[in-house]
Amino acid sequence: MSWILTVLSSSIGKKYIMAVSGACLSFFLLAHLIGNSVSFWGKEAYNSYASHLHSLGFLIYILEILLLLLFLVHIVMGITLFIENLSARPNRYAVKEKERNWSASTMPYTGILILLFLVVHLVNFHFITKTVSTAELVKTTLSNPLIASFYLLSLSGLTLHASHGFWSLFQSLGINHQKYNKLLQLGGLAMAVIIGTTFILIPLLIVTTDSFLQ
Ligand code: HEM
Repeated sequence: MSWILTVLSSSIGKKYIMAVSGACLSFFLLAHLIGNSVSFWGKEAYNSYASHLHSLGFLIYILEILLLLLFLVHIVMGITLFIENLSARPNRYAVKEKERNWSASTMPYTGILILLFLVVHLVNFHFITKTVSTAELVKTTLSNPLIASFYLLSLSGLTLHASHGFWSLFQSLGINHQKYNKLLQLGGLAMAVIIGTTFILIPLLIVTTDSFLQ
């Protein structure tokens, strides 16, 4: 058990936990994206995907608990590292801070936005008594311009967060080489943009196209 304390007490250990939990959350995000992309094939296909998901029954509860734990670990480690960084850099507005790239320096803020999004999202789709099909629920919820705008803002924040997250994941896991770092950075950005824009397309199509999910 003492190895857990050793890992938790070192900054590298925390970064490693952050990277591994971030990687697992990325797998969930990818699976959730693939599932939600079925909406592009119409209402019937989307409802059929949702009922297949629900037919997993007990397995879904286990996955939800795992997911909750992953989010908690990622958030607690993120806050701890942020506080440690603040106390290690008392003059954080010095020139060096300005040199950090934009997505890196906004990580705590985009993280808070994603957390806020998750609360709204779960209230919208998870903690409700369902009286209509999943397609109808998503369509009516995201037809509200205020909710749709919040989704567009949050999903843009998610894109920014993931673009630095993927790069930082490679770094923390030791996947880096001076020769290929630019390529890895671009790869992380491309992955984040693909995931973010595909998610963004859903509320965007709902507010702009009457026939989407109709
Ligand atoms: C436009 C984009 C999105 C749509 C349309 C969407 C849709 C949904 C729907 C319909 C559900 C309920 C599934 C069910 O039980 O029937 C759900 C659950 C969930 N979504 Fe999303 N989602 C989107 C983006 C996201 C993003 C970006 C995240 C994470 C940052 C996320 C995290 C979750 C979580 C954690 C759950 C609960 C898991 C569960 O019910 O088992 N979603 N989403």
